[in-house]
Amino acid sequence: MYNDNPTIQDLNAKQIDEKKQGEVFGAEFAPKQAGEKRFYIESYGCQMNFSDSEIVASILGEAGYGPTRDMETADLILINTCSIREKAEETVRKRLRVFDKVKERQPGTMVGVLGCMAERLKSKFLEEEKLVDIVVGPDAYRDLPALVAGAEEGEKGVNVFLSREETYADINPVRLQSNGVTAFISIMRGCDNMCSFCVVPFTRGRERSRNAFSIVAEATDLFDRGFREVTLLGQNVDSYKWENPETGATVSFAELLTMVAAVDPDLRIRFSTSHPKDITDDVLYAMRDHENICKYIHLPVQSGNSRILDLMNRTYTREWYKDKVDRIYEIMPDCAISSDIIAGFCTETEAEHQETLSMIEYSNYSMSYMFFYSERPGTPAARKLEDDVPLEIKKRRLQEIINLQTEISRKHNLADVGKTFKVLIEGDSKKSDQDWKARNSQNKMVIFPKAAGKHRPGDYVTVTIHDATSATLFGKLVEA
Ligand code: 5AD
Ligand code: SF4
Repeated sequence: MYNDNPTIQDLNAKQIDEKKQGEVFGAEFAPKQAGEKRFYIESYGCQMNFSDSEIVASILGEAGYGPTRDMETADLILINTCSIREKAEETVRKRLRVFDKVKERQPGTMVGVLGCMAERLKSKFLEEEKLVDIVVGPDAYRDLPALVAGAEEGEKGVNVFLSREETYADINPVRLQSNGVTAFISIMRGCDNMCSFCVVPFTRGRERSRNAFSIVAEATDLFDRGFREVTLLGQNVDSYKWENPETGATVSFAELLTMVAAVDPDLRIRFSTSHPKDITDDVLYAMRDHENICKYIHLPVQSGNSRILDLMNRTYTREWYKDKVDRIYEIMPDCAISSDIIAGFCTETEAEHQETLSMIEYSNYSMSYMFFYSERPGTPAARKLEDDVPLEIKKRRLQEIINLQTEISRKHNLADVGKTFKVLIEGDSKKSDQDWKARNSQNKMVIFPKAAGKHRPGDYVTVTIHDATSATLFGKLVEA
Protein backbone atom coordinates (compact mmCIF):
# COMPACT_ATOMS: atom_id res chain seq x y z
CA MET A 1 0.00 0.00 0.00
CA TYR A 2 3.00 2.23 0.00
CA ASN A 3 2.97 3.87 -3.37
CA ASP A 4 6.38 5.45 -3.28
CA ASN A 5 8.39 2.72 -4.89
CA PRO A 6 7.36 2.05 -8.49
CA THR A 7 10.33 -0.20 -9.34
CA ILE A 8 9.37 -2.66 -6.70
CA GLN A 9 5.71 -2.26 -7.37
CA ASP A 10 6.34 -3.21 -10.99
CA LEU A 11 7.47 -6.53 -9.64
CA ASN A 12 4.45 -6.97 -7.46
CA ALA A 13 1.12 -6.83 -9.20
CA LYS A 14 -0.83 -6.66 -5.95
CA GLN A 15 0.90 -3.45 -5.06
CA ILE A 16 0.28 -2.00 -8.52
CA ASP A 17 -3.39 -2.67 -8.02
CA GLU A 18 -3.43 -1.01 -4.66
CA LYS A 19 -1.56 1.98 -5.97
CA LYS A 20 -4.19 2.59 -8.61
CA GLN A 21 -7.04 2.16 -6.15
CA GLY A 22 -5.30 4.53 -3.89
CA GLU A 23 -5.05 7.47 -6.21
CA VAL A 24 -7.58 9.47 -4.32
CA PHE A 25 -9.23 12.26 -6.19
CA GLY A 26 -12.56 13.88 -5.83
CA ALA A 27 -15.66 12.79 -7.68
CA GLU A 28 -16.65 15.67 -9.92
CA PHE A 29 -15.65 16.89 -13.35
CA ALA A 30 -18.84 18.91 -13.88
CA PRO A 31 -18.46 22.65 -14.50
CA LYS A 32 -18.36 24.75 -11.37
CA GLN A 33 -21.36 26.85 -10.40
CA ALA A 34 -20.80 30.50 -9.53
CA GLY A 35 -19.48 30.81 -5.97
CA GLU A 36 -18.85 27.07 -5.67
CA LYS A 37 -15.52 26.03 -4.18
CA ARG A 38 -13.69 22.84 -4.95
CA PHE A 39 -10.71 20.96 -3.56
CA TYR A 40 -8.49 18.43 -5.28
CA ILE A 41 -6.59 15.91 -3.16
CA GLU A 42 -3.86 13.35 -3.82
CA SER A 43 -2.74 10.83 -1.21
CA TYR A 44 0.55 8.99 -0.83
CA GLY A 45 1.76 6.40 1.65
CA CYS A 46 -0.22 4.05 3.81
CA GLN A 47 -3.92 3.22 3.95
CA MET A 48 -4.16 5.46 6.99
CA ASN A 49 -3.36 8.43 4.79
CA PHE A 50 -6.07 7.48 2.32
CA SER A 51 -8.48 7.14 5.21
CA ASP A 52 -7.38 10.54 6.57
CA SER A 53 -8.06 12.14 3.18
CA GLU A 54 -11.66 10.99 3.54
CA ILE A 55 -11.84 12.72 6.92
CA VAL A 56 -10.34 15.85 5.34
CA ALA A 57 -12.99 15.68 2.58
CA SER A 58 -15.70 15.60 5.21
CA ILE A 59 -14.27 18.55 7.14
CA LEU A 60 -13.87 20.58 3.94
CA GLY A 61 -17.38 19.60 2.84
CA GLU A 62 -18.77 21.17 6.02
CA ALA A 63 -16.82 24.32 5.10
CA GLY A 64 -18.43 24.45 1.65
CA TYR A 65 -15.69 22.80 -0.42
CA GLY A 66 -16.71 19.98 -2.78
CA PRO A 67 -14.27 17.45 -4.32
CA THR A 68 -12.98 17.67 -7.89
CA ARG A 69 -10.81 15.41 -10.03
CA ASP A 70 -9.57 18.36 -12.02
CA MET A 71 -6.71 20.25 -10.39
CA GLU A 72 -6.88 23.03 -13.03
CA THR A 73 -10.27 24.21 -11.77
CA ALA A 74 -9.67 23.53 -8.07
CA ASP A 75 -9.58 26.41 -5.60
CA LEU A 76 -7.52 24.30 -3.22
CA ILE A 77 -4.97 21.60 -4.12
CA LEU A 78 -4.02 19.27 -1.28
CA ILE A 79 -1.36 16.60 -1.06
CA ASN A 80 -1.50 14.09 1.79
CA THR A 81 2.10 13.09 2.24
CA CYS A 82 4.25 10.22 3.47
CA SER A 83 7.69 10.37 5.11
CA ILE A 84 8.32 6.69 5.58
CA ARG A 85 11.17 6.51 3.07
CA GLU A 86 13.17 9.16 1.29
CA LYS A 87 11.66 8.11 -2.00
CA ALA A 88 8.16 8.92 -0.70
CA GLU A 89 9.27 12.46 0.09
CA GLU A 90 10.91 12.86 -3.33
CA THR A 91 7.63 11.86 -4.99
CA VAL A 92 5.81 14.56 -3.02
CA ARG A 93 8.33 17.23 -4.01
CA LYS A 94 7.89 16.26 -7.69
CA ARG A 95 4.13 16.64 -7.36
CA LEU A 96 4.58 20.06 -5.74
CA ARG A 97 6.45 21.17 -8.90
CA VAL A 98 3.38 20.15 -10.93
CA PHE A 99 1.09 22.10 -8.58
CA ASP A 100 3.39 25.13 -8.87
CA LYS A 101 2.71 25.12 -12.61
CA VAL A 102 -1.04 25.03 -12.01
CA LYS A 103 -0.64 27.97 -9.64
CA GLU A 104 1.19 29.90 -12.34
CA ARG A 105 -1.62 29.21 -14.81
CA GLN A 106 -4.40 29.76 -12.27
CA PRO A 107 -3.30 32.47 -9.83
CA GLY A 108 -5.25 32.31 -6.58
CA THR A 109 -5.19 28.51 -6.37
CA MET A 110 -4.13 27.51 -2.86
CA VAL A 111 -1.78 24.58 -2.21
CA GLY A 112 -1.77 22.68 1.07
CA VAL A 113 0.55 19.97 2.37
CA LEU A 114 -1.01 17.47 4.78
CA GLY A 115 0.15 14.38 6.61
CA CYS A 116 3.47 13.03 7.79
CA MET A 117 5.80 15.18 5.71
CA ALA A 118 3.92 18.28 6.89
CA GLU A 119 4.44 17.10 10.46
CA ARG A 120 8.11 16.30 9.92
CA LEU A 121 9.10 19.53 8.19
CA LYS A 122 6.60 21.90 9.83
CA SER A 123 7.09 25.56 8.91
CA LYS A 124 10.33 24.66 7.08
CA PHE A 125 7.98 23.67 4.27
CA LEU A 126 6.94 27.27 3.74
CA GLU A 127 10.60 28.28 3.45
CA GLU A 128 11.57 25.41 1.17
CA GLU A 129 8.47 25.38 -1.01
CA LYS A 130 7.57 29.00 -1.62
CA LEU A 131 4.25 28.27 -3.30
CA VAL A 132 2.81 26.18 -0.47
CA ASP A 133 0.09 28.09 1.42
CA ILE A 134 -0.80 25.77 4.27
CA VAL A 135 0.92 22.97 6.20
CA VAL A 136 -1.28 20.72 8.33
CA GLY A 137 -0.23 17.73 10.43
CA PRO A 138 -2.31 14.54 10.89
CA ASP A 139 -3.97 15.68 14.13
CA ALA A 140 -4.89 19.19 13.00
CA TYR A 141 -7.37 18.60 10.18
CA ARG A 142 -10.24 20.21 12.08
CA ASP A 143 -8.34 23.46 11.73
CA LEU A 144 -8.28 23.22 7.92
CA PRO A 145 -11.28 25.51 7.25
CA ALA A 146 -9.69 28.27 9.37
CA LEU A 147 -6.29 27.79 7.73
CA VAL A 148 -7.86 27.84 4.26
CA ALA A 149 -9.81 30.98 5.12
CA GLY A 150 -6.55 32.59 6.24
CA ALA A 151 -4.83 31.52 3.02
CA GLU A 152 -7.67 33.04 0.99
CA GLU A 153 -6.71 36.32 2.62
CA GLY A 154 -3.09 35.73 1.66
CA GLU A 155 -1.98 34.52 5.08
CA LYS A 156 0.09 31.35 5.07
CA GLY A 157 -0.75 28.94 7.88
CA VAL A 158 0.80 26.02 9.75
CA ASN A 159 -0.81 23.70 12.30
CA VAL A 160 1.23 20.66 13.23
CA PHE A 161 -0.03 20.25 16.77
CA LEU A 162 0.04 16.56 17.76
CA SER A 163 -2.80 15.55 20.02
CA ARG A 164 -3.11 12.86 22.68
CA GLU A 165 -6.88 12.65 22.19
CA GLU A 166 -7.84 13.37 18.58
CA THR A 167 -9.41 10.34 16.85
CA TYR A 168 -11.90 12.16 14.57
CA ALA A 169 -14.47 9.75 16.05
CA ASP A 170 -17.44 11.99 15.27
CA ILE A 171 -16.50 12.69 11.65
CA ASN A 172 -18.32 10.82 8.94
CA PRO A 173 -15.69 10.30 6.21
CA VAL A 174 -16.58 11.14 2.60
CA ARG A 175 -15.71 8.00 0.63
CA LEU A 176 -13.44 9.25 -2.14
CA GLN A 177 -12.91 7.16 -5.26
CA SER A 178 -14.97 4.43 -3.64
CA ASN A 179 -15.96 1.18 -5.32
CA GLY A 180 -19.03 1.17 -3.05
CA VAL A 181 -18.09 -2.25 -1.67
CA THR A 182 -14.96 -1.91 0.47
CA ALA A 183 -14.05 0.88 2.91
CA PHE A 184 -11.46 1.74 5.55
CA ILE A 185 -12.34 2.57 9.14
CA SER A 186 -9.66 4.20 11.22
CA ILE A 187 -9.78 2.70 14.75
CA MET A 188 -6.74 4.30 16.33
CA ARG A 189 -4.05 6.84 15.62
CA GLY A 190 -0.36 7.22 16.33
CA CYS A 191 2.17 4.64 17.43
CA ASP A 192 4.08 4.04 20.69
CA ASN A 193 6.35 1.28 19.42
CA MET A 194 9.52 3.14 18.53
CA CYS A 195 10.92 0.73 15.96
CA SER A 196 14.32 2.29 15.45
CA PHE A 197 13.96 2.76 11.64
CA CYS A 198 10.54 4.38 11.72
CA VAL A 199 9.54 8.00 11.51
CA VAL A 200 5.85 7.39 12.29
CA PRO A 201 5.99 7.92 16.08
CA PHE A 202 7.37 11.39 15.31
CA THR A 203 4.90 12.26 12.56
CA ARG A 204 1.75 10.70 13.96
CA GLY A 205 2.33 11.06 17.67
CA ARG A 206 1.18 8.98 20.61
CA GLU A 207 -1.10 6.02 20.26
CA ARG A 208 -4.80 6.52 21.06
CA SER A 209 -7.85 4.36 20.43
CA ARG A 210 -11.15 5.53 19.05
CA ASN A 211 -14.52 5.05 20.78
CA ALA A 212 -15.60 1.46 20.00
CA PHE A 213 -19.27 2.41 19.59
CA SER A 214 -18.42 5.05 16.98
CA ILE A 215 -16.50 2.36 15.07
CA VAL A 216 -19.47 -0.02 15.17
CA ALA A 217 -21.79 2.84 14.13
CA GLU A 218 -19.56 3.65 11.15
CA ALA A 219 -19.46 -0.03 10.11
CA THR A 220 -23.26 -0.28 10.43
CA ASP A 221 -23.77 2.86 8.36
CA LEU A 222 -21.44 1.54 5.65
CA PHE A 223 -23.28 -1.80 5.59
CA ASP A 224 -26.64 -0.02 5.30
CA ARG A 225 -25.26 1.94 2.35
CA GLY A 226 -24.34 -1.28 0.53
CA PHE A 227 -20.70 -1.70 1.57
CA ARG A 228 -19.74 -5.31 2.28
CA GLU A 229 -16.18 -5.10 3.60
CA VAL A 230 -14.46 -2.87 6.13
CA THR A 231 -10.76 -2.76 6.95
CA LEU A 232 -10.05 -1.62 10.50
CA LEU A 233 -6.95 0.55 10.33
CA GLY A 234 -4.27 1.44 12.81
CA GLN A 235 -0.48 1.51 12.98
CA ASN A 236 -0.69 -1.32 15.52
CA VAL A 237 -4.28 -2.58 15.74
CA ASP A 238 -3.52 -5.31 18.29
CA SER A 239 -2.78 -2.73 20.93
CA TYR A 240 -6.23 -1.16 20.45
CA LYS A 241 -7.69 -0.48 23.87
CA TRP A 242 -10.61 1.84 24.47
CA GLU A 243 -11.83 2.74 27.91
CA ASN A 244 -15.48 3.63 28.14
CA PRO A 245 -15.45 6.88 30.14
CA GLU A 246 -18.92 6.17 31.53
CA THR A 247 -18.36 2.64 32.83
CA GLY A 248 -14.58 2.42 33.02
CA ALA A 249 -14.79 -0.90 31.11
CA THR A 250 -12.19 -1.45 28.41
CA VAL A 251 -12.62 -2.90 24.92
CA SER A 252 -9.69 -4.91 23.54
CA PHE A 253 -8.99 -5.47 19.85
CA ALA A 254 -10.37 -9.02 20.02
CA GLU A 255 -13.56 -7.62 21.57
CA LEU A 256 -13.77 -4.86 18.97
CA LEU A 257 -13.45 -7.45 16.19
CA THR A 258 -16.31 -9.43 17.69
CA MET A 259 -18.46 -6.29 17.99
CA VAL A 260 -17.88 -5.31 14.35
CA ALA A 261 -18.39 -8.90 13.17
CA ALA A 262 -21.84 -8.80 14.81
CA VAL A 263 -22.98 -5.89 12.58
CA ASP A 264 -24.03 -8.40 9.93
CA PRO A 265 -22.77 -11.82 8.81
CA ASP A 266 -22.54 -10.36 5.29
CA LEU A 267 -20.11 -7.65 6.35
CA ARG A 268 -16.53 -8.82 6.01
CA ILE A 269 -13.93 -7.53 8.42
CA ARG A 270 -10.24 -7.06 7.68
CA PHE A 271 -7.63 -5.29 9.75
CA SER A 272 -4.14 -3.87 9.38
CA THR A 273 -1.43 -3.66 10.69
CA SER A 274 -0.62 -6.29 13.32
CA HIS A 275 2.54 -6.21 15.41
CA PRO A 276 3.79 -9.75 16.12
CA LYS A 277 4.45 -8.85 19.76
CA ASP A 278 0.84 -7.76 20.37
CA ILE A 279 -1.39 -10.14 18.43
CA THR A 280 -3.06 -12.40 21.00
CA ASP A 281 -4.67 -15.81 20.92
CA ASP A 282 -7.95 -14.02 21.65
CA VAL A 283 -7.65 -12.22 18.31
CA LEU A 284 -6.88 -15.52 16.57
CA TYR A 285 -9.87 -17.20 18.24
CA ALA A 286 -12.16 -14.30 17.26
CA MET A 287 -10.97 -14.76 13.66
CA ARG A 288 -11.47 -18.52 13.77
CA ASP A 289 -14.94 -18.24 15.32
CA HIS A 290 -16.38 -15.66 12.93
CA GLU A 291 -16.68 -16.60 9.29
CA ASN A 292 -16.89 -12.91 8.33
CA ILE A 293 -13.54 -11.98 9.91
CA CYS A 294 -11.17 -12.60 7.01
CA LYS A 295 -8.50 -15.25 7.36
CA TYR A 296 -5.65 -12.95 6.55
CA ILE A 297 -3.04 -11.32 8.79
CA HIS A 298 -0.52 -8.71 7.77
CA LEU A 299 2.26 -9.53 10.25
CA PRO A 300 5.40 -7.56 9.31
CA VAL A 301 8.59 -9.40 10.26
CA GLN A 302 11.03 -6.69 9.00
CA SER A 303 14.01 -9.04 9.37
CA GLY A 304 14.51 -12.75 9.98
CA ASN A 305 17.56 -12.28 12.19
CA SER A 306 17.39 -11.81 15.96
CA ARG A 307 20.36 -9.42 16.21
CA ILE A 308 18.89 -7.13 13.55
CA LEU A 309 15.43 -7.38 15.13
CA ASP A 310 16.98 -6.23 18.39
CA LEU A 311 18.69 -3.28 16.67
CA MET A 312 15.33 -2.48 15.08
CA ASN A 313 13.76 -2.55 18.57
CA ARG A 314 11.08 -4.94 17.36
CA THR A 315 11.05 -6.65 20.79
CA TYR A 316 10.80 -10.21 19.42
CA THR A 317 13.32 -12.75 18.19
CA ARG A 318 13.36 -14.98 15.13
CA GLU A 319 12.20 -17.94 17.24
CA TRP A 320 9.42 -15.96 18.86
CA TYR A 321 8.12 -14.84 15.45
CA LYS A 322 8.25 -18.40 14.12
CA ASP A 323 6.22 -19.57 17.12
CA LYS A 324 3.62 -16.88 16.35
CA VAL A 325 3.41 -18.05 12.73
CA ASP A 326 3.04 -21.67 13.95
CA ARG A 327 0.26 -20.61 16.30
CA ILE A 328 -1.65 -18.82 13.53
CA TYR A 329 -1.49 -21.83 11.20
CA GLU A 330 -2.37 -24.15 14.10
CA ILE A 331 -5.54 -22.19 14.98
CA MET A 332 -6.45 -21.33 11.36
CA PRO A 333 -4.79 -23.66 8.84
CA ASP A 334 -6.40 -21.72 5.97
CA CYS A 335 -5.11 -18.30 7.13
CA ALA A 336 -2.85 -16.30 4.80
CA ILE A 337 -0.03 -14.25 6.29
CA SER A 338 1.75 -11.34 4.59
CA SER A 339 4.72 -9.28 5.67
CA ASP A 340 6.79 -6.12 5.41
CA ILE A 341 10.51 -6.69 4.95
CA ILE A 342 13.45 -4.28 5.08
CA ALA A 343 16.67 -5.25 3.27
CA GLY A 344 20.05 -3.92 4.31
CA PHE A 345 19.33 -2.45 7.74
CA CYS A 346 22.36 -1.00 9.56
CA THR A 347 25.20 -3.54 10.00
CA GLU A 348 23.24 -6.42 8.40
CA THR A 349 25.61 -9.19 7.26
CA GLU A 350 25.17 -11.59 4.39
CA ALA A 351 24.38 -14.43 6.81
CA GLU A 352 21.74 -12.29 8.55
CA HIS A 353 20.18 -11.47 5.19
CA GLN A 354 20.02 -15.22 4.50
CA GLU A 355 17.95 -15.58 7.67
CA THR A 356 15.42 -13.11 6.26
CA LEU A 357 15.20 -15.25 3.11
CA SER A 358 14.67 -18.41 5.15
CA MET A 359 11.99 -16.65 7.21
CA ILE A 360 10.02 -15.91 4.02
CA GLU A 361 10.09 -19.62 3.27
CA TYR A 362 9.26 -20.64 6.82
CA SER A 363 6.29 -18.27 7.11
CA ASN A 364 5.03 -19.09 3.61
CA TYR A 365 3.85 -15.51 3.12
CA SER A 366 1.15 -15.07 0.49
CA MET A 367 2.76 -11.73 -0.34
CA SER A 368 5.05 -9.08 1.13
CA TYR A 369 5.81 -5.39 0.86
CA MET A 370 9.56 -5.21 0.43
CA PHE A 371 11.89 -2.25 0.81
CA PHE A 372 15.52 -1.42 1.26
CA TYR A 373 16.43 0.53 4.35
CA SER A 374 16.17 4.28 4.00
CA GLU A 375 17.55 6.31 6.89
CA ARG A 376 15.06 8.84 8.24
CA PRO A 377 16.30 11.93 10.05
CA GLY A 378 15.62 11.99 13.79
CA THR A 379 14.81 8.30 14.18
CA PRO A 380 16.67 6.23 16.81
CA ALA A 381 18.51 4.34 14.05
CA ALA A 382 19.65 7.59 12.41
CA ARG A 383 20.90 8.85 15.76
CA LYS A 384 22.61 5.69 17.01
CA LEU A 385 23.46 3.39 14.12
CA GLU A 386 25.52 3.72 11.01
CA ASP A 387 23.70 3.26 7.71
CA ASP A 388 26.67 1.22 6.50
CA VAL A 389 25.28 -1.27 3.98
CA PRO A 390 26.18 0.11 0.54
CA LEU A 391 23.23 0.94 -1.72
CA GLU A 392 24.18 -1.68 -4.34
CA ILE A 393 24.19 -4.36 -1.67
CA LYS A 394 20.86 -3.19 -0.26
CA LYS A 395 19.40 -3.32 -3.76
CA ARG A 396 20.84 -6.76 -4.49
CA ARG A 397 19.51 -8.15 -1.21
CA LEU A 398 16.12 -6.58 -1.87
CA GLN A 399 16.05 -8.15 -5.31
CA GLU A 400 16.80 -11.56 -3.79
CA ILE A 401 13.98 -11.05 -1.31
CA ILE A 402 11.58 -10.03 -4.10
CA ASN A 403 12.60 -12.98 -6.27
CA LEU A 404 12.05 -15.44 -3.45
CA GLN A 405 8.75 -13.90 -2.34
CA THR A 406 7.46 -13.91 -5.94
CA GLU A 407 8.27 -17.61 -6.16
CA ILE A 408 6.65 -18.35 -2.78
CA SER A 409 3.57 -16.30 -3.77
CA ARG A 410 3.32 -18.26 -7.02
CA LYS A 411 3.45 -21.57 -5.14
CA HIS A 412 1.01 -20.28 -2.53
CA ASN A 413 -1.42 -19.36 -5.28
CA LEU A 414 -0.89 -22.53 -7.32
CA ALA A 415 -1.78 -24.52 -4.19
CA ASP A 416 -5.25 -22.93 -4.49
CA VAL A 417 -5.87 -24.42 -7.94
CA GLY A 418 -8.82 -26.80 -7.63
CA LYS A 419 -10.08 -25.12 -4.45
CA THR A 420 -13.44 -23.40 -4.16
CA PHE A 421 -13.78 -20.00 -2.45
CA LYS A 422 -16.52 -17.62 -1.45
CA VAL A 423 -15.46 -14.30 -2.95
CA LEU A 424 -16.74 -10.75 -2.74
CA ILE A 425 -17.13 -8.99 -6.12
CA GLU A 426 -15.41 -5.58 -6.09
CA GLY A 427 -15.91 -4.54 -9.73
CA ASP A 428 -14.81 -5.14 -13.31
CA SER A 429 -11.43 -6.72 -13.83
CA LYS A 430 -8.91 -4.20 -15.08
CA LYS A 431 -8.25 -6.09 -18.28
CA SER A 432 -11.81 -6.88 -19.35
CA ASP A 433 -15.32 -5.77 -18.49
CA GLN A 434 -16.36 -9.34 -19.28
CA ASP A 435 -14.61 -10.48 -16.08
CA TRP A 436 -15.19 -9.71 -12.41
CA LYS A 437 -12.49 -8.84 -9.93
CA ALA A 438 -13.16 -10.27 -6.48
CA ARG A 439 -11.30 -11.21 -3.31
CA ASN A 440 -11.36 -14.31 -1.17
CA SER A 441 -11.09 -14.29 2.60
CA GLN A 442 -7.30 -14.70 2.33
CA ASN A 443 -7.15 -11.34 0.49
CA LYS A 444 -6.23 -12.89 -2.84
CA MET A 445 -7.49 -11.28 -6.00
CA VAL A 446 -9.68 -13.66 -8.01
CA ILE A 447 -10.61 -12.98 -11.65
CA PHE A 448 -13.48 -14.88 -13.29
CA PRO A 449 -15.85 -14.49 -16.26
CA LYS A 450 -19.19 -12.82 -15.58
CA ALA A 451 -22.44 -14.70 -15.96
CA ALA A 452 -24.55 -12.40 -18.15
CA GLY A 453 -26.55 -9.95 -16.04
CA LYS A 454 -26.45 -12.10 -12.95
CA HIS A 455 -24.26 -10.38 -10.37
CA ARG A 456 -23.06 -6.98 -9.29
CA PRO A 457 -20.30 -5.52 -7.13
CA GLY A 458 -21.02 -6.30 -3.47
CA ASP A 459 -22.36 -9.81 -4.23
CA TYR A 460 -20.79 -12.90 -2.70
CA VAL A 461 -20.34 -15.76 -5.17
CA THR A 462 -18.60 -19.13 -5.16
CA VAL A 463 -15.70 -19.64 -7.52
CA THR A 464 -13.47 -22.62 -8.31
CA ILE A 465 -9.84 -21.81 -9.12
CA HIS A 466 -8.29 -23.26 -12.29
CA ASP A 467 -5.12 -21.19 -12.70
CA ALA A 468 -2.86 -18.77 -10.83
CA THR A 469 0.08 -16.40 -11.14
CA SER A 470 2.16 -15.00 -8.30
CA ALA A 471 -0.37 -12.17 -7.92
CA THR A 472 -3.78 -13.43 -9.06
CA LEU A 473 -6.09 -16.44 -8.99
CA PHE A 474 -8.25 -17.25 -12.03
CA GLY A 475 -11.54 -19.00 -11.46
CA LYS A 476 -14.92 -20.02 -12.74
CA LEU A 477 -18.30 -19.40 -11.13
CA VAL A 478 -19.88 -22.34 -9.42
CA GLU A 479 -23.55 -22.14 -10.36
CA ALA A 480 -25.79 -22.03 -7.29
N1 5AD B 1 13.25 2.31 5.51
C1 5AD B 1 12.68 1.32 4.80
N2 5AD B 1 11.48 0.81 5.08
C2 5AD B 1 10.82 1.31 6.14
N3 5AD B 1 9.63 1.01 6.67
C3 5AD B 1 9.41 1.82 7.72
N4 5AD B 1 10.44 2.65 7.89
C4 5AD B 1 11.34 2.35 6.92
C5 5AD B 1 12.62 2.85 6.57
N5 5AD B 1 13.18 3.82 7.28
C6 5AD B 1 8.78 -0.07 6.18
C7 5AD B 1 8.55 -1.12 7.26
C8 5AD B 1 7.14 -0.84 7.70
C9 5AD B 1 6.53 -0.34 6.44
C10 5AD B 1 5.31 0.44 6.68
O1 5AD B 1 7.52 0.44 5.84
O2 5AD B 1 8.65 -2.39 6.66
O3 5AD B 1 6.48 -1.98 8.19
FE1 SF4 C 1 1.55 6.57 6.55
FE2 SF4 C 1 2.88 8.52 7.67
FE3 SF4 C 1 3.79 6.10 7.72
FE4 SF4 C 1 3.78 7.45 5.51
S1 SF4 C 1 4.94 7.89 7.32
S2 SF4 C 1 3.24 5.38 5.74
S3 SF4 C 1 1.88 8.52 5.69
S4 SF4 C 1 1.96 6.82 8.68
